[in-house]
Order: sequence, then structure tokens, then C-alpha cells
Amino acid sequence: MKTRVIAKPDLKLAAKRGRTPTTFHRVNNSSNTEIINKLKNRKYFIKTYGCQANVRDEETMRGILESVGMISTDNVNESDLIIINTCAVRENAEDKVYGEVGNLKHLKAKKKDLVIAICGCMVEQPEILDRLINTFKEVNLYFGTHEIYNLASLVYETLTSGERIVSIESKAGEVVEDLPSCRNNKFKAFVNIMYGCDKFCTYCIVPYTRGKERSRRFEDVMKEVKELEAQGYQEVTFLGQNVNAYGKDLDEGYDFADLLVAAGHTNIPRIRFTTSHPWDFNGRMIEAIAKYPNIMKFIHLPVQSGSSEVLKRMNRRYTREDYLNLVKKMKDNIPGLTLSTDIIVGFPNETDEEFNDTLTLVDEVGYDAAFTFIYSPRRGTPAAKMEDPITYETKVKRFKELVSHLENSISKKSNEMIGKVYPVLVEGVSKTNKDMFSGYTENNKLVHFKADETLVGQIVNVKITESHTYSMLGELVK
Ligand code: SAH
Ligand code: SF4
Ligand code: F3S
Repeated sequence: MKTRVIAKPDLKLAAKRGRTPTTFHRVNNSSNTEIINKLKNRKYFIKTYGCQANVRDEETMRGILESVGMISTDNVNESDLIIINTCAVRENAEDKVYGEVGNLKHLKAKKKDLVIAICGCMVEQPEILDRLINTFKEVNLYFGTHEIYNLASLVYETLTSGERIVSIESKAGEVVEDLPSCRNNKFKAFVNIMYGCDKFCTYCIVPYTRGKERSRRFEDVMKEVKELEAQGYQEVTFLGQNVNAYGKDLDEGYDFADLLVAAGHTNIPRIRFTTSHPWDFNGRMIEAIAKYPNIMKFIHLPVQSGSSEVLKRMNRRYTREDYLNLVKKMKDNIPGLTLSTDIIVGFPNETDEEFNDTLTLVDEVGYDAAFTFIYSPRRGTPAAKMEDPITYETKVKRFKELVSHLENSISKKSNEMIGKVYPVLVEGVSKTNKDMFSGYTENNKLVHFKADETLVGQIVNVKITESHTYSMLGELVK
């Protein structure tokens, strides 16, 4: 198969952050009949890895494909287009993709005009892209996070040319508005408020794969929120790698606090947001969260490490003390606040003492949930070049110690909920027990309870009867 390279990624270019203002681009959704004639009634399948940014991208891709008449399927065997939407944040996220794509090889032999596409953060890395291209001859389309808006014509080109197409431009990125989207959930929605990241934490690949930090216009965000409100959505989650930096790159004079206030004035019962970087969190944001009952008193505030020395090497821009002061300010001002976090264990050269600082911080904060990761070197990031004498065995040992530490403190907090009544948004039949339904409390605890189909998508009162580390049992209260 001939390969047509429209653009290939370049980490140096991807890291460039000009002071140039963001370009806003409105797509014209008027249909191209040639593309529709070629693609309509073909079936597509999408498998997504990674964070909510990727989940939301999948919804956009679905919207684009449906707008040219393609039909969703859960069965790869009957698909005409298979898209693997990848994540590059850690090595194990990438390993899964190699396995997955390997399993698809045989399908191409059966269906000659099958399009197998790989997109997402993995292909934004030059060496990984080359390895994929060399390993998987069957994959005939690669596109990057900046090319999603162009998906329909890329699929059309791949089909009509018979070539393998690579379209991955490393650039700061723009904001594309008015793209169609097909939401996965009828009562919970993600709303992008910004894209990209400028923080350049030394371990992290995201600023290279997603471009510069760029906000959507206030008006565009709120228009989407108002539409969701009119459609009866019960929960809206504002998405960004660093939502607290919202608006800083625009000249509109709005920041994240303004967005929270505007969302607080809607009738959407649950407003959430993720992810918060401690650096950009200010007092007005804390005030807004405290003031509006529909803004959930639940903040995901990644700390990464409890050691100021490690935080410095990570380029996190705050010390242990800064973080703890912020947490204190939040707790003092937001009654009923619960916190969750992300922690990396085994950052290059992390000493026993530095690791111990993480354990003591965890105890001091008292998290309600935490995601813990063993450090994974990402090629092209500064941390990947740091010397690291710490053995993998030590890292695994520390990881286990941290997890059991966290489980203790999380269980304690969960046990305090027993006997009390909480509002729960009913998601549907429980994934672990077909006789039960499940949903989330305002502080994001998963609860299983007896209910019926008519309550799905509604907020009901549930009394907690039993607590396990990662979920709870409860009963409906009238
Ligand atoms: N923008 C968010 C989340 C980004 S990725 C934030 O700043 O918090 C989600 C989490 O993955 C990070 O919080 C971090 O804990 C983890 N992570 C990122 N890069 C990693 C790496 N190279 N190795 C291990 N964990 C990593
Ligand atoms: Fe990665 Fe840091 Fe940006 Fe989060 S803030 S996406 S961890 S660089
Ligand atoms: Fe993964 Fe990209 Fe999200 S690297 S965590 S899918 S931004």
C-alpha cells in the first residue's frame, strides 16, 4: 500500500508556544454529497482509551460520521471503519493498543475496503507513529488530535485513493466550533471549556500531544450548557487539562470563576469540573463553588507528590505547603468538601524520605478517592532524560504501600457515610450485580441499590447501609 503523508508529528514543533492568539474556526456542516454517497450506510466502530478528553473526542467523531450517514456498531466484525482512539500518558496505555490492533489484522483480509484508523495521543509521538506504521501494514489511516474535524474527508480519501493516509500536524492548535456530536449519555454530559496544556510538568506528554492551552469563548461554552439544560441534562462536567486556567488566553475578561457562576445560575442540578491544577485555583473560584448548591462540593486536585523537592523536579509550580494551604482554604470555605487526587510513585530519584512525604500528605488531606500511578518515562519529556537509580521493585513496593495507606483513609471516610441519606443520580443497572441499580452521590461515591428502570436519569435519595472501599450499598428512601 502506498503511503501518503499529509503531515507527520514533530515533538519540537509540538512544544512551541507562540504568543499568537488562538484561531477560532467555525465549521460549515453543509453536506458534501460526494462524501455522503461514498460513506452513507457504512458501519463504524470506535474504541477509546485514555481520559475524558478522548471520550469527548469520540462523541465528536461519532457526530461527524453520523452526519455523513454512517451507522454505529458494537461489532468489529461487521464494521467498515474501525477507529482506535489512543492514549499516551503511560506505557501500559500504549501496550493495550498494540494488542488491540494486532487482533484486528485478520479483518482486513476478509474485507478489502475496510478502513482501520488509529488516532489520539499515541500517534502524536514520532517514534511511536513510525513503530505503528512499520508494525501494522493493515492500518490505512492515521490522524492526530488536531485533525478530528476533518475525519469524514480523511475516511473518504482513504477509501477512494486506496492509499494509506497519515495526517498528523504538530501545532499549537486552534479552537473548532460547531462540530456535530453524538453524546454517549442522555443525562450526563462533558463540555470542553478548553483544550491543550501549557504546564509542561516534566513527566507528562500531554502538552505535546494536545497543543497549547486554549479556551473556548465564554459565549460558545454557555450556549452548549444552555442547550444541555433545555434537553434536561442532570449533570454537566466542564473539561480541560487545567480548567482553572480557563480564559487566561482570551481577551474577553472571563475566568473560570465566571464560568462557575454562570453555570451556578442554570437549572442543571449537578455541575462538575476536571482537572484542577492547584497553581491556578483562586479565592473567587472557591467562593463560587461554596455559593451555588448545584456546583458539586467535590474537587479533583492532583497533588502528584507530597515532597516539595519532587514537586520542583516535576515542575508542578507549588510546594507541599502551598498545596496544604490551598486545601485548608478550600475546607474552611466549602462545607462538606471532598477531595480526590492523582499521585505518581517512583519519579526519577525519589528517595525514601520523599516518598514518605507523600504518605504523610495523604494522611493530612484525607482524600475521598485517589488515582495512583507508577512513573512511566515518556520519550521527549525532560524527566525521561533524568538519571534514575531507583529500581522498579522499589517503586512497586512503594506503590503497594501507598495504595494500602489510601485505602485505609478512604474506607474511614466511606464508613462515616453509613446511616446517612444522600442524593444519587441513577445511572442504570449495576455493572457488578444485575439485580441492582447504581449511581453516584454528589461526592462521586458509587452506590448500588434496588430501584427500577423508571428512575434512571433521575436524582433520588439513598440511605447508605454498607461501605466497601470503592463502592457502597444503600436503599431508596421515599
Ligand atoms: N491535566 C491533569 C491530568 C493529566 S494526565 C493534571 O494535570 O492533573 C492524568 C494523570 O496521569 C496525571 O495527573 C498524573 O498523575 C498521571 N501521569 C501523567 N504522566 C505520567 C507519567 N509519565 N507516568 C505516570 N503517571 C503519569
Ligand atoms: Fe500533564 Fe501537568 Fe498538563 Fe496535567 S498540568 S496535563 S500533568 S503537563
Ligand atoms: Fe491520554 Fe491524551 Fe488524555 S495522553 S490522558 S488521552 S490527553
